[in-house]
Amino acid sequence: METIHTIEWMKQVARAWRTEGCLVGFVPTMGALHEGHLSLVRAAQKQTRPLVVSVFVNPKQFGPQEDFEKYPRQIEADRALLEQLGVDCLFAPVAREMYPDGFRTHVSVEGLSDRLEGRARPGHFRGVATVVLKLLEIVQPRFAYLGRKDAQQARIIRQMVADLNLDTEIVVCPIVREPDGLAMSSRNAYLTAKERQAATVLYRALDAARREIESGERDAARLVARMRQIIGAEPLASPDYIEIVDAETLEPVVGLRGRCLALLAVFVGATRLIDNLLVEQRDDECVVSL
Ligand code: PAJ
Repeated sequence: METIHTIEWMKQVARAWRTEGCLVGFVPTMGALHEGHLSLVRAAQKQTRPLVVSVFVNPKQFGPQEDFEKYPRQIEADRALLEQLGVDCLFAPVAREMYPDGFRTHVSVEGLSDRLEGRARPGHFRGVATVVLKLLEIVQPRFAYLGRKDAQQARIIRQMVADLNLDTEIVVCPIVREPDGLAMSSRNAYLTAKERQAATVLYRALDAARREIESGERDAARLVARMRQIIGAEPLASPDYIEIVDAETLEPVVGLRGRCLALLAVFVGATRLIDNLLVEQRDDECVVSL
């Protein structure tokens, strides 16, 4: 596996692959890789070759009071994992390479970015969209793989790719969970042992909603109330938001129809965790994915 630090060299390598007719795949990450990230690598390897994985802790998507400084960085361990999986190229630029002095251009995906995560984290999705556009321009992959763990992020990137006519297809992959249901996340490392136990409350709340939906419940307010009750019963947890929204518009729904997302952000101690449930209704079939 080749490790590339400069944008120019990454562009040259990717361009050479494309001229040979390769279908380049791409998985953007901020590193501290876990099974969630690796599932994206495996999904990519089924469809494309060669595969580029980026590791870049993007300063522009962290608020001033957020965890940019303490975000886990373990590039050597990440490199070893990617090497083992047979990834072709690790792209790991430094911040000055991505944002040299005088950098001025940012991307905003309007309407989808100021709600939910965007309300709690002003500027977050502007930072995400900006870095992802840069990465997609540098690598110009045929396919890029994202996790549904960050459902709003995936929706926003899909919109950006469509609006800006990028030649990349976005593939959204399922959420990978720990055996007790907690969605894998680099931020889980911040949890104390007690908080780690309490953190299953996100999954428990979504799983209760899933069961109610499967029993026929379609009323969003009642489902939200049920999830709020479960989270309220966990002393170490306090909800930031609990919403059921249309998967396209991200606007709250009254009754579940079509494709909807139940989205949670919950503080467990000082750590903010997110998780979600996808409900897809077609004709008389209803598929709930946790
Ligand atoms: P990061 O949090 O490192 O996540 C990289 C990718 O892995 C994202 O698409 C995310 O949704 C996916 N992912 C994380 N945990 C997952 C899980 N448990 N199951 C499935 N997929 C999971 O998301 C980012 O980085 C950044 O915002 C980035 C897109 C790289 C831009 O900086």
